[in-house]
Amino acid sequence: MQERIKELLREVESYKVETHIELEQFRIKYLAKKGIINDLFDNFKQVAAEQRKEIGQQLNVLKNSIQEKINNFNTNKENTVESKLKNTDLTLPTDFSVLGARHPLSIVRNEIISIFSHIGFTVSEGPEIEDDWHIFSALNFPEEHPARDMQDTFFIEKNPDIALRTHTSSVQVRVMESTKPPIRTISPGRVFRNEAISARAHCIFHQIEGLYVDKNVSFADLKQTLLYFSKEMFGDKTKIRLRPSYFPFTEPSAEMDISCDICGGSGCNICKYSGWVEILGCGMVDPNVLENCGIDSKVYTGFAFGMGIERITQQKYKTKDLRMYFENDVRFLRQFEQAL
Ligand code: PHE
Repeated sequence: MQERIKELLREVESYKVETHIELEQFRIKYLAKKGIINDLFDNFKQVAAEQRKEIGQQLNVLKNSIQEKINNFNTNKENTVESKLKNTDLTLPTDFSVLGARHPLSIVRNEIISIFSHIGFTVSEGPEIEDDWHIFSALNFPEEHPARDMQDTFFIEKNPDIALRTHTSSVQVRVMESTKPPIRTISPGRVFRNEAISARAHCIFHQIEGLYVDKNVSFADLKQTLLYFSKEMFGDKTKIRLRPSYFPFTEPSAEMDISCDICGGSGCNICKYSGWVEILGCGMVDPNVLENCGIDSKVYTGFAFGMGIERITQQKYKTKDLRMYFENDVRFLRQFEQAL
């Protein structure tokens, strides 16, 4: 019996009581009518007279330790609740909750939209999952064009006619199909290309493309529009330069550089010591594209341009690694709390 009491003492000591339910379970196990202690006292009646004193004392020690554990739980609980109340000034105002910051890409997108809205451009949006016609065919991409390759575009496996749009020119096709000129619109949105992710490229990025279709729209109009945009976006001293290029949907086509606003054109590592930074692609809408969308190319002409929002944001905020825009690390995002 002495062994059993010792064992129970150890058990009680290490018994974990953390909640009121556990406390009640503990009490029932040891102190209830049919609990362990009463059981032991029943057995005690058979203990020989010369051992009674010693075992009786041990039994009392065990019973007391159980009671003590119960009392301790109750006073500790009271203490914590009490001390919490004592140390809390209920009249103090609550902590300020941290306000979120706008994402740098959203800041720049809104700025670009605002600049173009001042000269009459509306905003159009369209689906990210598109059909071949709106991404490629209507835009004059020949059947064998490399952009239609699986390595460049994410196609839907079950239906190769459907893909994630690779540019927001698809939205411009939708606008031309459904609107009679004059059309003056920009289409911001997320685009997808099958690219390996690195500091300079990502398989998801954002574009803003612009379209102007009316009678007598000329290349000079395109140039002036882009010069106005560049000065508004990067400062009044900004210069632009157009280099001949090729896109299936514009003819002639060009790529536009702006003078590097970091070194002012004298050359630095951002502009790779050329003094110029490439910003966008542009050109006069190919007459085939106008006809594909039901617009009479003998009456109307138009220009189009398209830019990557990440590229513009990088230039504006001098961020080196494109991946930071997608990681949502608050240490990066918090830096934009003050902006806009
Ligand atoms: N759609 C082109 C791209 O994604 C950009 C562009 C738009 C070029 C309009 C010319 C005219 O790269």
